[in-house]
Amino acid sequence: MRKTIIAGNWKMHKTVAEARELAKALMDGIKADLVGVALPDIVLCPTFVCLPEVLTTVKGSALAVGAQNMDHRDSGAFTGEIAPPMLTGLGVTHVIIGHSERRQLFGETNHSVNLKIKAALKHGLIPIVCVGETLSERDENLTDSVIHHQINSGLHEISVEDAAKLVIAYEPVWAIGTGKNCETGEANRVCKLIRRTINELYSKSEDGKEDSAKPKTPSHVADSIPVLYGGSVKPSTIDEQMEQSDIDGALVGGAALKAEEFLPIIKGGAKRLKLSSSRA
Ligand code: PGA
Repeated sequence: MRKTIIAGNWKMHKTVAEARELAKALMDGIKADLVGVALPDIVLCPTFVCLPEVLTTVKGSALAVGAQNMDHRDSGAFTGEIAPPMLTGLGVTHVIIGHSERRQLFGETNHSVNLKIKAALKHGLIPIVCVGETLSERDENLTDSVIHHQINSGLHEISVEDAAKLVIAYEPVWAIGTGKNCETGEANRVCKLIRRTINELYSKSEDGKEDSAKPKTPSHVADSIPVLYGGSVKPSTIDEQMEQSDIDGALVGGAALKAEEFLPIIKGGAKRLKLSSSRA
């Protein structure tokens, strides 16, 4: 059975005091409304400066804390960067890698994403790897090839054992922060495509050669990798999204900034968890 994960990407929002209030409000809301309910994995991703405060606030609760980015190197003269051991040293367990805002606004490439995934895995952080097409790529019918390329190059030279530790988030760029939701059936199709692409990447021919004409032994590694959807997820969209075969959770931006919006999304995740436990 795959994990259900609800992650909140707080982006460049919230002071330390505001971050503490939000984390507290979420914990109070969970205690009030979801007592006795099996919870999905919940990951809060505040800014770097808020990580210690949020970690202290959620200590002993079911909430995990993730970073929004990191450098791939362990230390060095890289002004302004944050290294993986600094995150693990705090108790951070997850890290978002390759968010489209990092790719579009800060020059991240599939290669840097690959380096960061490897660094996260080396340090025992769970990477939440974001992939997704832009509007013009979708309009030109390039969605599937963009996804294929982002997955294949992002996972380059990552062992199958390490690949099993990944979380992938399908985030169509045009749906992020725009209020435009990717139609649920289409989001599910792309999440399925991501899973198939990863399985194909790890399928092996009998002689171990990549270009071999011999039949390949299929890999099922991605059958247990959670694939999340992100892009204008709201309380009003989550239930339908969580009913899909291949959407295992959500990466939420705007609606993660208010407890009254994020709590119903967590509830949606809890419903999926219940559904998948009953199917297992
Ligand atoms: P959004 O952001 O929910 O505000 O669209 C999602 C994200 O950027 O991860």
